[in-house]
Amino acid sequence: MKVITIAVMVLRIGVLVALVMGILFWTGNIQNLIPIHMLIGILVVLCLWVIGLAQGFTKAASFGLALATFILGLVLVIVGLYQTRWLPGSSHWIIQVIHLLLGLSAIGLGEMIYARTKRRLKSSVAA
Ligand code: HEM
Repeated sequence: MKVITIAVMVLRIGVLVALVMGILFWTGNIQNLIPIHMLIGILVVLCLWVIGLAQGFTKAASFGLALATFILGLVLVIVGLYQTRWLPGSSHWIIQVIHLLLGLSAIGLGEMIYARTKRRLKSSVAA
């Protein structure tokens, strides 16, 4: 559980920083910091994978959730790496929104697994 707690903390901070940087990219500032944003994004994905994997070693293990973290993380990295080439022109905002939603889903899934694991472990101790 300790590993999951630490990974969730890093995930929260990472998504927050990536989000603020992303909004600044949108408004046309700090474009030179895109590599830092990508590194933070990859760190976020690693945290999500750690959460997915670590919950698999608890009594609340779920293979489906572990798989979900793996798939979501992979899709987020792939979209992040290649998004600039997709739908160039006036429809590019669609890719940008998808990228943003994937980033927010990463924190959503991480938080959900954290809450679920904590709840299930607590109830298994009480039983
Ligand atoms: C952790 C969650 C993440 C959040 C919340 C997030 C959010 C954002 C937002 C709001 C933007 C500005 C809109 C856009 O251009 O799409 C952006 C841009 C960008 N993000 Fe992320 N991002 C995340 C993760 C990642 C990852 C993992 C990568 C790649 C490994 C990445 C690569 C990029 C790039 C290259 C841009 C600039 C795109 C452009 O100049 O058109 N992001 N991000």
